[in-house]
Amino acid sequence: MAKHKRIGILSAGGDCPGINAAIRGVGKTAIVKHKMEVIGISSGFSGLIQNDFNILTEETLSGILTLGGTILGTSREKPFKKKGSTGIDKPELIKKNYRHMGLDCLVCIGGNGTQKTASMLADAGLNVIGIPKTIDNDVFGTDFTFGFDSAVSIATEAIDRLHTTANSHKRIMVIELMGHHTGWLALYAGLAGGGDVILLPELGYDEKVVNDYLLQRYQKKKPYSIVVVAEGLERPETEKSAAHYVARLIEQGTGIETRTTILGYVQRGGSPSAMDRILATRFGSHAVQLIADENYGRMVVNKNNETESIALGEVAGKLNTVPTNHSFIAKALALDICMGFASNAKK
Ligand code: F6P
Repeated sequence: MAKHKRIGILSAGGDCPGINAAIRGVGKTAIVKHKMEVIGISSGFSGLIQNDFNILTEETLSGILTLGGTILGTSREKPFKKKGSTGIDKPELIKKNYRHMGLDCLVCIGGNGTQKTASMLADAGLNVIGIPKTIDNDVFGTDFTFGFDSAVSIATEAIDRLHTTANSHKRIMVIELMGHHTGWLALYAGLAGGGDVILLPELGYDEKVVNDYLLQRYQKKKPYSIVVVAEGLERPETEKSAAHYVARLIEQGTGIETRTTILGYVQRGGSPSAMDRILATRFGSHAVQLIADENYGRMVVNKNNETESIALGEVAGKLNTVPTNHSFIAKALALDICMGFASNAKK
């Protein structure tokens, strides 16, 4: 009788809605369908270094589908970064603890940094499966990461609320959304929330184009405008935020009263949307099938709404940015939304 596999799960990097749904998807599929044992590793790769883990059971996995955050905790520990003053060889300690835990495979739930570490652990000889998560939707190789849909809904609801206060005061409201170096959240929530100007890191920002556009709206007696800015928009280092940078140039250039909102961490909080629960569950279940097939060194992905997998080595060090020819950009321009550059300029 083949020994039942024992798998470890960790969540690393910025948290997001849906991580617990993914943990549940992995754990229940492993326990119920494959009779595997499941170990929950605390605080991302820190827990693997410190040998901090707990057995996960159907009972501990019960009721976490709708729970925001991660029951395992997370950290931004990067074990392959150069040794600190402690001189501890973290990768060696991880390999030792992986064996000490008796693991047959390690499931790493995380974004770009996590998948890069996962790929390096696979190269170091561990059996590893990656599950892509982040509100930024910037993991290479997958159409969507879970966390993204929830954050789009949160950001859209916030933008909806800005319309009423902007209208009352006849102001320009600038709202900054997360996304790290990419503009996926700003693009999707900007469209869904009726943004008049949407500024993405991938497209840049032409101050004169934006100011002329906003002045034209004002002269057409549009009572207010909504400007949606991705946090990663290029700006002088002296500027404390993308929103403050853009708002200052708008107010200086148009003379229209302008206010800023930095939405921040609420985009990462709370219960996952239905679509994120489904995507996270699909990812978790597919990850366990890869383990059952001993098809290691892979990251599960969503491609054309199918769940597949790609080699971790294909993902590491890459970024999923908004293509400048993305169809949503053309659609926005057709609705006379300003995307930060002269619409007739070749991008
Ligand atoms: O990757 C998710 C994210 O929220 C980014 O959008 C943001 O730039 C970053 O994490 C914030 O990092 P931290 O949680 O370490 O402040």
